[in-house]
Amino acid sequence: MTTILGISGSLRQASYNSGLLRAARDLRPAHIELASIAGIPLFNADEEAEGMPAAVTALRQRVLAADGLLLASPEYNNSVPGVAKNAIDWLSRASSDTGNVFKGKAVAIIGATPGGFGTIMGQSAWLPVMRTLRARIWTGGRLLVSGAGNHFDERGDLVDGELRKRLDDFLEGFLHFCAG
Ligand code: FNR
Repeated sequence: MTTILGISGSLRQASYNSGLLRAARDLRPAHIELASIAGIPLFNADEEAEGMPAAVTALRQRVLAADGLLLASPEYNNSVPGVAKNAIDWLSRASSDTGNVFKGKAVAIIGATPGGFGTIMGQSAWLPVMRTLRARIWTGGRLLVSGAGNHFDERGDLVDGELRKRLDDFLEGFLHFCAG
């Protein structure tokens, strides 16, 4: 069974990006699980030297166990959000038992914004990060969600059937890629 771990790059309660991932999980519940970056501390090499924080170890294990990683990330100032990059930075630290958890991992990046450009700059900004980590980036599809307020309700739940269909098509392609 092919498994995908969905991680949202937002900590906001009613996050559009988290809502997009919940919709993905609801479309493919047998294949998609969600994880959060909440609880990941700010990266500090001194703390790292004392031992990996438990929240980092737990999330790393979940990334390792999945066939693919689906990152739903906001765009901040035309780039990646600091909180999300901080989590990826922690996860990128190789440990003797697991090595680089991103190496060869199928990764897809999606994003939602109230703005007009669908996180296109943010998604592009993730590419050199994932390339550096030697992830297997899926380029077979794109999901850029603009005007998010029109597609999600006040709790951040997806309410637009047309977008749900676009998401479903995206997942089909990415699942196929993860299985390969
Ligand atoms: C933003 N936002 C934003 N949106 C965008 O499309 N391009 C951008 O460059 C930025 N820059 C930006 C910077 C900062 C510091 C914040 C806080 C916000 C708006 C952003 O898309 C919006 O807050 C989304 O709602 C964030 O996603 P979640 O939290 O709903 O998933």
